[in-house]
Amino acid sequence: MIKIAVTGACGRMGGLIIENILKSKDLKLVCALDVTNIGKDIGEVMRTGKLNVQVEDANKIDAALDRSKPDVLIDFTIANAAVKNVIASANKKVSLVVGTTGFTPEQKALMEKAIKENGVAAVISPNFSIGVNVFWGLLAEAAKSLSDYDIEIIEAHHNQKKDAPSGTAVKAAEVISKTLGGKELVYGRHGLSPRKQEIGIHAVRGGDIVGDHTVLFAGDGERIEIKHQAHSRQAFAKGAVRAAVWICSAKPGVYEMADVLGIHQKD
Ligand SMILES: NC(=O)c1ccc[n+]([C@@H]2O[C@H](COP(=O)([O-])OP(=O)(O)OC[C@H]3O[C@@H](n4cnc5c(N)ncnc54)[C@H](O)[C@@H]3O)[C@@H](O)[C@H]2O)c1
Repeated sequence: MIKIAVTGACGRMGGLIIENILKSKDLKLVCALDVTNIGKDIGEVMRTGKLNVQVEDANKIDAALDRSKPDVLIDFTIANAAVKNVIASANKKVSLVVGTTGFTPEQKALMEKAIKENGVAAVISPNFSIGVNVFWGLLAEAAKSLSDYDIEIIEAHHNQKKDAPSGTAVKAAEVISKTLGGKELVYGRHGLSPRKQEIGIHAVRGGDIVGDHTVLFAGDGERIEIKHQAHSRQAFAKGAVRAAVWICSAKPGVYEMADVLGIHQKD
């Protein structure tokens, strides 16, 4: 039985991840942490019926981890909170699955330092869907043959998303840039902005769009668009729970979802 703690338990992703944990007889939700609904039963917050797991205050994560002793913590919160949660969990030798996006390079480095110093294992990915992980591989392949084409990334998400551009779009840009030996990234354009050899990144926000990503390779007389569309958050939640099972038998280190799926891109 794998014991799981969830931070951001009352959020859109947290709720769906808990539903997926409850569906498996091999997994047990032992701790639900958030900064809202503290003291309420998480099942009642999710309107699925009482689960006898109370929402605990994420500001007291150390005590909650000591009491519940999870094997793995799954974090889908916001960047500032995730950094604290990851450091606290790593200090308690709890494995990690981190889906939160919007980290600065400094925040990423802080988390990786805590993970490595404590010898724990973690999967950190801005997108846990199988499709997006295949999509990133397709982009690297396309970029190899279309290195002189203009490359633009357009992403669209719901109107509640806090960070922009999406972690998935940033990772898409990083994959292409790495393939092409380094490219400048330009975030949106306004006023005089002649196009150079950059990758343009554009974020659209509206309604309840779950997550669309299009990468445009445009040349003389033609263009290719490689597109991924998420229809439901279930694709991310299922992937995160799969990663939680996988990380429990992984060696210490920082992994990507591609490692979990066995589709790791070799340089
Ligand atoms: N990696 C992926 O596959 C993937 C997929 C979807 C969303 N995301 C990312 O996951 C994150 C959450 O997305 P969401 O749509 O569920 O957001 P949400 O706003 O619905 O939920 C976030 C939850 O975190 C809680 N929270 C805030 N501070 C906290 C703290 N200190 N400790 C614990 N909980 C805290 C909030 O109260 C809220 O319940 C975002 O960064 C989003 O971009 C990643």
